[in-house]
Amino acid sequence: MVEAEQPSTARMIDYWLGGEHHAAVDVAAATAFEGAYGPCAPVFRELRAFLGRAVRSMVADGMDSFLVFGAGVPTRGNVHEVAAEASVLYTDVDPVTIRLGQRILAGSDRAGYGFGDATDIGTVDPAQLHRFVPGWGRRPVGVVFLGVAAFLDDETVARTLDEVYAAAAPGSRLAVDFDGTDLAAYPQALAMMGPAYRMREPAVMRSLLGRWVPTGEGIVPVARWRPEGEPVAVPDAFHGGVAVRAD
Ligand SMILES: C[S@@+](CC[C@H](N)C(=O)[O-])C[C@H]1O[C@@H](n2cnc3c(N)ncnc32)[C@H](O)[C@@H]1O
Repeated sequence: MVEAEQPSTARMIDYWLGGEHHAAVDVAAATAFEGAYGPCAPVFRELRAFLGRAVRSMVADGMDSFLVFGAGVPTRGNVHEVAAEASVLYTDVDPVTIRLGQRILAGSDRAGYGFGDATDIGTVDPAQLHRFVPGWGRRPVGVVFLGVAAFLDDETVARTLDEVYAAAAPGSRLAVDFDGTDLAAYPQALAMMGPAYRMREPAVMRSLLGRWVPTGEGIVPVARWRPEGEPVAVPDAFHGGVAVRAD
């Protein structure tokens, strides 16, 4: 259990995933949100399963190191647990989350955690980048951008993804998700998301990718991105996919 005075979306997700890295305030916030929306655990379990499928696809395409933005809690099927041979740098802007992540990963020689503002990749510590994402900008890597776009406006998402595109080597992969318009039907839950929160239509999501080229599936409800068997029946809250930095 964690001690915290303010809830965090990252630790609420840990709670919904059945993890152990959350505080009483996170459980209270998660319970209040579910009161306004409905059960969230199945939705976030499927979102994490999508992360797993996306990361495995990137490993199959040759990615052996990953840079993760807005990483949240590095457990419960997060990137280094899926890509068991890869090296991974998790980044976030929230100091409590960063300290928690550093504690969880203490002793790991292939996964680290540090500050990184997704909207300014220059804020990632070059020494950590060099250590955990060797050859950044010179060899293809996986970039994970999940759970972040929903809290940025369109102009910022488009600019950020374009900057990552320019910085990453050709052949790099991007896993990305966006929030659909599901919450529009739940005004109380929507109000709990705060003023920065952005719902988006699929056509807007695709346009924000700019030069990144989605794989054939495109950007789709995450349960329908390369499902293993029948897609899990959950609300289409999150849309996502994998895109390639062309040569
Ligand atoms: C909804 S959580 C998602 C956590 C994780 N990616 C997941 O999918 O479970 C969003 C995370 O993004 C972080 N965050 C918000 N704005 C950010 C920014 N500009 N750069 C990096 N991280 C950010 C928050 O601190 C939080 O940990």
